[in-house]
Amino acid sequence: MTLHYPAPGASPASIQITREGRLKHFLTIEGLNRALITEILDTAESFASMNDQSVKKVPLLRGKTVINLFFEASTRTRTTFELAAKRLSADVLNINIGQSSAVKGESLLDTLRNLEAMYCDMFIVRHADSGASQFIAHHVAPHISVLNAGDGRHAHPTQAMLDMFTIRRHKGDFTKLRVAIVGDILHSRVARSQIHALNILNTGEVRVIAPKTLLPAEVEKLGVHVFHDLEQGLRDVDVVIMLRLQKERMQGALLPSEHEYFQLYGLTEERLKVAAPDAIVMHPGPANRGVEISSRVADGPRSVILEQVTNGIAVRMAIMSMVMGANPGGAA
Ligand code: NCD
Repeated sequence: MTLHYPAPGASPASIQITREGRLKHFLTIEGLNRALITEILDTAESFASMNDQSVKKVPLLRGKTVINLFFEASTRTRTTFELAAKRLSADVLNINIGQSSAVKGESLLDTLRNLEAMYCDMFIVRHADSGASQFIAHHVAPHISVLNAGDGRHAHPTQAMLDMFTIRRHKGDFTKLRVAIVGDILHSRVARSQIHALNILNTGEVRVIAPKTLLPAEVEKLGVHVFHDLEQGLRDVDVVIMLRLQKERMQGALLPSEHEYFQLYGLTEERLKVAAPDAIVMHPGPANRGVEISSRVADGPRSVILEQVTNGIAVRMAIMSMVMGANPGGAA
């Protein structure tokens, strides 16, 4: 049986916030307000200072059980969620369910019921179908929180939050910034969540740079300026976010060849010269070197790619403690 996502009736924005305005699930950036996004970033800042301590643990989620429920491959996201949960003293279970069409419909609900029977408190869900984490949030027992770790092409809200955290640490005020997102916007849940977050934070200008075949229809309606030429789009930007060509999501030939793509859209040191002199380069990973980014840029002085990975731990700790209603004041 195939389920129809999202579950009818409730929008993700409405089910992730309680009547009192508290974060209950974390499914999408859309519909969040600036105060809540800023609270997540500030809370993450207090956890980030823990990285320098020899004992990297706080007891905020002691006694809670977190289940990493990954129906799709992941390296950074799964491991940083696991580390974040462990640093909050939660018990963590990793369940990697191979991607197959059998993992749908009633079997998904059965899996949930079985996991619920083990007294868990939080599901971290990655799934190839857009709306899957919302569907799960709609069906879990009321005490359980669901965090979206990437659903189809729809959203990857914790990635967007760690990217905002990284930008804020380097650049401060969003209202003065020009941010360019480059590459396969069409298939990217990361880009969608980043665009929503950047706009909620009142970013000066958000640009997308891509060939027409890799842009969603009516992308301008998301509140971005569209460029098809890399050099024009990169002019004077403060932040460059590169995206992976998501070949596994492409149907048919959207591109001539990887070599030609690199010639037109690959980020090189030479091309970066038109950006602001202190521009930072970001990538959510995994990066295809020589396809969307040269190794010299990925490993170069402007790159903050590994900082993004590190920041993922503090940001995920912040979101996990907030959905559980734990007082992060105790983190300091
Ligand atoms: C991204 C994802 O899975 O959406 N990676 C990540 O979580 N860091 C981006 C990608 O797969 O290209």
